[in-house]
Amino acid sequence: MATDRICIGLTYSLGTESKAKTVFRNSGEKYIGQKNAGQKHYRQKNKWQKNRWQKNRWQKNVGGKIGWQEYIGRENRRGNMTRLFQIVIVVLAVAWWPLCAGSSDGRPTGILTALPEEMQVLSQHLKDKRMRTFLGVTFQTGKLEGRKVVLATSGIGKINAAKTAALLLDRFNPGEVIFSGVAGGLNPDLAPGDIVIGTRTAQHDFGKLTERGFEPQTPTAETPLFIEAPGELLRAADRVAARVKLAPVLTTHGTRTPRVIRGVIITGDVFVASPTKVAELRETFKADAVEMEGAAVALVCWQQRVPCMVIRSISDKADVGAWEDFERFIKMAADNSARFTLELLRVLTEQPKVTP
Ligand code: ADE
Repeated sequence: MATDRICIGLTYSLGTESKAKTVFRNSGEKYIGQKNAGQKHYRQKNKWQKNRWQKNRWQKNVGGKIGWQEYIGRENRRGNMTRLFQIVIVVLAVAWWPLCAGSSDGRPTGILTALPEEMQVLSQHLKDKRMRTFLGVTFQTGKLEGRKVVLATSGIGKINAAKTAALLLDRFNPGEVIFSGVAGGLNPDLAPGDIVIGTRTAQHDFGKLTERGFEPQTPTAETPLFIEAPGELLRAADRVAARVKLAPVLTTHGTRTPRVIRGVIITGDVFVASPTKVAELRETFKADAVEMEGAAVALVCWQQRVPCMVIRSISDKADVGAWEDFERFIKMAADNSARFTLELLRVLTEQPKVTP
């Protein structure tokens, strides 16, 4: 009897109803007492099931009687469903937990960069790191400065940036998004290593090209020309500016402490290395820095009512020597932007929640 019981238990655990039937069918007389008890129980509880099973003519297999085997078979199925349900709940809880832990409203802060160099310092500081990939974009979840974050590197350009931003919003539901990286300086007062806090962003290559030249896009309800950064994030960034420690800026007269300014950041799918273009962009957009992703991310976030801010450190001056400067200063500028972003996370944790 003990052996048969183990057999039944195993079959139950393995979860195949037909195996259970076989075990019971072969089990012999010694089970009769228990069978009856089981039968009675299920008769009371599940009369309709018994009828259905009778209809299926399973009773034939047990010598014309409605045996307890059938009911145990049914119980196995129910037991398995319960166990499956429990497993699903546990798996969901385990998968959801890293997204919920550690912040007051359960929403992480999304931090995007375009290049791996721009992500390096942030990634090094990340605690409880986990990776998830969607449509080829890898997101790192974890904690930075005690704050729950999701990090991703989008790749260069507006399309990559918009795709990554959309995935970030859809899969991780961040409470706010920060873009951190480097930019070409349009404002002549800026030098490599300086920081621009983006008050507003625009796409400088989105518009109309005629014989009269280029005209920026006509604003629509879904796509304004400029996306304004939320006041709360800007105020937090101002507090960061007052206390952040950045790598010194190299100038022709030696080194100086990096300048942090609020400014206009414009975005387009071209690396600008032309003084003529710099003059045109300054004139048309009154812009301080040019890069290739920020406005795309800001627009996606704005459309979904998720607060977003772009932080950029200057790597070059978008002039004829821009490419050489970019290669020379990218590491220093990227690290400065990352350090600024880390301090911003501390400030955001200190101050109340951002609302769109
Ligand atoms: N990112 C860094 N420097 C840039 C430049 N000169 N043009 C566009 N994007 C940039």
